[in-house]
Amino acid sequence: MARFWVCVTCAVFFLAFLVLHWRLCDSTVLRNFAFQVIGRAEQSLYQLDVDWPKHSEYFTGTTFCIAVDSLSGLVYVGQRGNDVPKVLVFTENGYFLRAWNYTVDMPHGIFAASTLHEQSIWITDVGSGPYGHTIKKYNPVGDLIQVLGTPGKKGTGLNPLQFDNPAELYVEDTGDMYIVDGDGGLNNRLIKLSQDFMVLWLRGENGTGHARFNIPHSVTVDAVGRVWVADRGNKRIQIFDKDTGEWLGEWKSCFTEEGPSSVRFTPDGKYLVIAQLNLSRVLFVAAPPPGSIGSCSVISTIQLGDQVLPHLLDISGKTGALYIAEIGAKQVQKYVPSLSYFSAGGS
Ligand SMILES: *[C@@H]1O[C@H](CO)[C@@H](O)[C@H](O)[C@H]1NC(C)=O
Ligand SMILES: *[C@@H]1O[C@H](CO)[C@@H](O)[C@H](O)[C@H]1NC(C)=O
Ligand SMILES: *[C@@H]1O[C@H](CO)[C@@H](O)[C@H](O)[C@H]1NC(C)=O
Repeated sequence: MARFWVCVTCAVFFLAFLVLHWRLCDSTVLRNFAFQVIGRAEQSLYQLDVDWPKHSEYFTGTTFCIAVDSLSGLVYVGQRGNDVPKVLVFTENGYFLRAWNYTVDMPHGIFAASTLHEQSIWITDVGSGPYGHTIKKYNPVGDLIQVLGTPGKKGTGLNPLQFDNPAELYVEDTGDMYIVDGDGGLNNRLIKLSQDFMVLWLRGENGTGHARFNIPHSVTVDAVGRVWVADRGNKRIQIFDKDTGEWLGEWKSCFTEEGPSSVRFTPDGKYLVIAQLNLSRVLFVAAPPPGSIGSCSVISTIQLGDQVLPHLLDISGKTGALYIAEIGAKQVQKYVPSLSYFSAGGS
């Protein structure tokens, strides 16, 4: 009888060993576990979704940017590298759908636009090849529909439009768009275009004063008509009136260590979510009420692992899910609002 129990105990241990071995040798599980432990913050408003994506082996390059089309439930990832697909498409629940290569050189920023008439994907390209220095519009399956700028040639022109390392853009549902040009290069400017690509206003040149920029890296628009620009090299966010381009103010106090590299609002408008690249940190800053800019106040942070390097991020307008393109970790991770988000008065 004693012998029987010894055997049963052995069998149980052996099975447990097998299961553990299988779990830990799955690199996705290991990697997610490592980043989750390192990335934990006290009272974090967001928590890592370890199930996204289902299979991370699709990240074969350096993942620079991410855009969520929350109406279709799709996530678009721009990656760079030799012999890798430049755009990867996943579902919001983590399944890989498709990829495309053609007409993309070096993606920098990406935006999922939803206007009354259509869904589209816009990519800013900072490559020096035949598709570089342009901003391109694709339909959701990757057909090229529109090219702004002079392909393969950097410049400062406005008619025709030219860019030098265009960093990112934001497209409103009216089709009006805001472009930050760029990620270094000749131009340090914010341009508003109408839906038929006429220049409505333009702010900026290289410099440190009001409405001047040093690497304007990311741009977003809030619900009350203000444009927020991550002026990375000047370690500040500058805010403009979206109709007139008038300078409304700036935030500096949160960025003494490093400038912001990405800006997006949560769909309830409560927080501005900001990436700091080299600090591998994501800040949740209280969004100011209409009519006042006030100063920057950090409510919560996600400290990612050393060298994860969050470059650009996007937030689902439906669920509030946050996707972060990490150029150091070479992956995109998804975070979802946690219980403390809702107890902190989010909705
Ligand atoms: C992109 O290019 C790589 C390398 O040439 C190739 O393996 C891959 O199948 C291509 N992907 C697409 C979507 O065309
Ligand atoms: C822009 O100005 C900054 C200092 O304000 C300087 O470091 C940088 O080299 C300038 N860039 C260009 C393109 O002139
Ligand atoms: C991050 O560090 C790299 C390497 O030191 C540097 O080239 C880059 O300018 C830094 N970026 C920011 C946003 O500080």
